[in-house]
Amino acid sequence: MERTDRLTPASARDLLYEECEALRGVQSRLCTLYAGNGFREVMTPSIEYSGVFSADAAVSQRMVRLMDGGGRLCCLRPDCTLPIARLCGTRLKNAPLPIRLYYSQQVYSVAREHSGKEAEFSQVGVELIGERGMTADVEILSLASQSLRALGNGYRLEICHIGFFRSLMGALSAEETVKEQARALIEQKSYAQLSDLLSPFLEQPAARALCALPRLFGAKDVLARARALQPEKEGIKALDYLEELLEKLREAGLHENVAIDLGLINDADYYTGVIFRGYMEGSGEAVLSGGRYDRLLGRFGRDLPATGFGVNASLVSRGLTGGGEQQGEGLTLALTKGRLEKKTAQLLSALGYDCSALEEKGRRLVLPLGESGIRVILAKAADVITYVENGVADIGIVGKDTIMENGGSFYEVLDLGFGRCRFALAAKSREAVFGGYRAQRIASKYPHVALDYFESLGLDVNIVKIEGSVELAPLIGLCDGIVDIVETGSTLRENGLSVIEEIAPVSARMIVNTASMKLRQQPVERLISQMEGYLQEQAERPEK
Ligand code: PRP
Repeated sequence: MERTDRLTPASARDLLYEECEALRGVQSRLCTLYAGNGFREVMTPSIEYSGVFSADAAVSQRMVRLMDGGGRLCCLRPDCTLPIARLCGTRLKNAPLPIRLYYSQQVYSVAREHSGKEAEFSQVGVELIGERGMTADVEILSLASQSLRALGNGYRLEICHIGFFRSLMGALSAEETVKEQARALIEQKSYAQLSDLLSPFLEQPAARALCALPRLFGAKDVLARARALQPEKEGIKALDYLEELLEKLREAGLHENVAIDLGLINDADYYTGVIFRGYMEGSGEAVLSGGRYDRLLGRFGRDLPATGFGVNASLVSRGLTGGGEQQGEGLTLALTKGRLEKKTAQLLSALGYDCSALEEKGRRLVLPLGESGIRVILAKAADVITYVENGVADIGIVGKDTIMENGGSFYEVLDLGFGRCRFALAAKSREAVFGGYRAQRIASKYPHVALDYFESLGLDVNIVKIEGSVELAPLIGLCDGIVDIVETGSTLRENGLSVIEEIAPVSARMIVNTASMKLRQQPVERLISQMEGYLQEQAERPEK
């Protein structure tokens, strides 16, 4: 018997008893709702030719690939909308319009190793095909809202119109690489980095508007703030559309849990109009996602407007069975133990928070921040990211080095300015790493950062993961160079090494869980603004 014979692959698992009941309950509530609203069920196969998804880079990137008997490249369905678009261009090509479809099926996507994410989840959703315009958008948003309401207490639906973002991008005169980076930074609500990236372009109104985009979320007043940024014609049209849509939702009694987020950019690039995401208490990430995709069906031979959404039923049911995080009213702030801890405590004290529990913590790992309602948890750097990503902590303070190495899905909102150091390639000499034709060996605590750097240079290297005191590795002949963080440079100097190339600056960052940003917007925004205000004040203070 092989070692793995009794196991499920990493990121796949069995569901038992109440887990099945919870999932079936979610699926059946949604299916009943959709059937009751005139939608008819379809099932597409789990296995599709990978070409069905190839037009969408983000979707095809997460495909689990396999080969059919004839050696053709197939995949396990990574998305439900594209197979339905295929269906409309083939089996449903003569169906009368509009077509209202719903589905309840498994979706598969490659999960990041050790992320705790599952590679298979249940998605239940609807597609409304053949109807353009406001009425169809209101119908789908109303159904999205009813879906979340049917599943539990406390939800929020964020809406956006992709036309606003696209018009700003279209008006921005900058290289494509800058635009791609800006897109990613807006998606991550990475305020600080976005300003740095776009600072050379700030004489352009589009660049100024893009810098403001990650913060343009909240109630209806967001639209007025967006108009003040003087968008071009397409952008104004998008804002007008959203304004009218909000009014229609208000008339339908759905406005209370609906907000605007103009920085919402869906990673699937087939969306053309209104896009939206839904959040529920108990889940650290969006449980519902959808939007209008008027040009997708044309690729499959039936050029029709369409809109729809999918609910991640697995995520919802995990929240219901207690697999998701359960939080009270207050905020949870995850701090990196060690180097950044003291500086963060100083910053919090300067903002007026009572940090006495942090100063006399002993071996305790969960500490109250006075009477503020904020609790602090202390964790290792990479774990801060894990806690925030999974929503058990709302906010985290962590070094950019850890973010670059681990990645993850969260908002990176502030550069706190302390914990400054830099990523560098270091060696005994430049020749040691760049001389000769042999593929060099590079040791690092940050193998992803190291690999990424050498890939950007187009160089093959062998990376060796080392846990600490990396400077030792080239001294005793394990490697030719190291990629590590350098602060004062004394560790390198005292060991006969020097910086060969600087790779990237590093400092402490404030990160926020995506769902917390929506569901606990006020306290989260308050803390961000306090920190931002303080940092600004410090930066403007004349040097003594
Ligand atoms: C970090 C880093 C370097 C050193 C750089 O190590 O990996 O070794 O600090 O600082 P310097 O430029 O001021 O000399 P850390 O102290 O975190 O210990 P570790 O290497 O054992 O992880």
